[in-house]
Amino acid sequence: MATLAELTAQHTSLTQPSVDHLLRLTVSWSLLSDLSFSDMLLMTKVDLLTNLGEDNFVVLGQMRPNNRSTLMNEDLVGTLLRCDAWPLVRQAFDGGARVVGEAMIENVEDRVPVWCIPVRFEGVIVAVLVRLQGPLRGPASLYEQAYLSVFERLCDMVADATFPYREDDVAGPGMPRVGDGIILMDGEGLVEFATPNATNALHRLGIYAPAEGRSLDDLGLRARVIDRTLEFGIPAMDEIDQGHDVAIVFHCVPLLEKGEVTGLITLVRDVSDLRKLNRVLLNKEAAVREVHHRVKNNLQTISSLLRLQARRSDIAETRTALLEAERRIRSIAVVHEVLSREPGEEVVFDEIVRSLVLLVEDTVLALHPVEIVVNGELGVLSTDLATPLAVALAELLTNAVEHAFTEFGGVNNDQVGIVTLNLFQEDGNAIAEIRDNGRGLGEDFSLDVPTSLGLSIVRDLIRAQLHGTIEMKSVSATEGGGTYVRVEVPTTARL
Ligand SMILES: Nc1ncnc2c1ncn2[C@@H]1O[C@H](COP(=O)(O)OP(=O)(O)O)[C@@H](O)[C@H]1O
Ligand SMILES: [Mg+2]
Repeated sequence: MATLAELTAQHTSLTQPSVDHLLRLTVSWSLLSDLSFSDMLLMTKVDLLTNLGEDNFVVLGQMRPNNRSTLMNEDLVGTLLRCDAWPLVRQAFDGGARVVGEAMIENVEDRVPVWCIPVRFEGVIVAVLVRLQGPLRGPASLYEQAYLSVFERLCDMVADATFPYREDDVAGPGMPRVGDGIILMDGEGLVEFATPNATNALHRLGIYAPAEGRSLDDLGLRARVIDRTLEFGIPAMDEIDQGHDVAIVFHCVPLLEKGEVTGLITLVRDVSDLRKLNRVLLNKEAAVREVHHRVKNNLQTISSLLRLQARRSDIAETRTALLEAERRIRSIAVVHEVLSREPGEEVVFDEIVRSLVLLVEDTVLALHPVEIVVNGELGVLSTDLATPLAVALAELLTNAVEHAFTEFGGVNNDQVGIVTLNLFQEDGNAIAEIRDNGRGLGEDFSLDVPTSLGLSIVRDLIRAQLHGTIEMKSVSATEGGGTYVRVEVPTTARL
């Protein structure tokens, strides 16, 4: 079966943006079909040049309602229909206004009520949406009336080019369909109407009070997805959970009139059973774990590429810079590696420290014997804090190993370089002290002069990003010599 893109390319001269608009329409038009209990066809005029002067429409898409039997058993997508056989469609296409009437359809005895809604894009009619309405079973019930009124508002939006939504990236498979339950709200977020299925879903979330005339907020349900849709006028989807057992998907779609949000339909779907069945598959934790795992893998790939590139470079400076970048990326990968095993808002930092120490020992060319000793621990830290802190500590440890012991080792000197890392928490602060017994800092060393990259990064991470302090000084020979660094960051501050 030809796709919409193929059909438009073959039969029309529609621009790519208009084709994309039509594609978006066919992604979200199950809503229109269900709300109007009708079959839908999307038609556009065939370009005369490609069609030897025949005046035809081509059917670009077809949608059947979920809540009624279809009028059309055949698949019409891709067929050409003579324009004079569909005068209502032609009228809508040429006139740019909605046309309502009746038509005869194959295999249906009675005349069928037809609506032709022009689909406007960037001021031009690019297609016509045809609604073929099946026979009504008696007078419309209350909820059928509500559906139809929403449908009409959406039709106006189609003609105004505000439906389908440009930002509608939440539609597609898995999107709730109308049969799952609908809550209709006004522009203020007050419930006008809720279908029985929607009411059931609210019950499952612990809301038993009648919803009409009140906002979900009033009823005790915090649904940010609704606020977002009301505020920005774009569709949004979210899952609201109640404990482990209840999961309800809310898909909010704004109703717009002249750019204003005048209402909101929320499709709700109880996915608790689905979640239960697929718990292993859809387990959030497993998903997060997988993401961290992939991030780590990607970072490792980048780091390998940098290492390869470094090896190929003949210029020492370039090589060093590339290897440094490689080490920094690996220190971030370490955090994701730990998170891929234990995902969450918090992470056991000591596992990260262990990997960092190995990383530093491994990366820095061991020109001289160095030992890194870790005392104490920081315990569990928020992940927002862990990544910058890990990068900063890797930087400082690398410096100690790299710069402190340049005169150590060799034939005349059998001194061993020792770097100690003390970790502890005190008064809501995580504290890391790094001490080496090396040559100490130069006379003119100042942490605040932003010259070298390594310490600039550390300064920025600790002070600006983590709202902490850093102090760096030489230790007098009488106290053992070397360099002392103290990093202190609040563990509770919001970053
Ligand atoms: N533990 C230390 N012992 C001696 N010198 C150090 C130590 N840490 C940093 N330094 C000095 O501070 C300088 C700046 O460090 P950094 O900003 O990391 O740049 P880089 O490591 O690229 O030289 C180093 O070049 C070194 O001279
Ligand atoms: Mg450095």
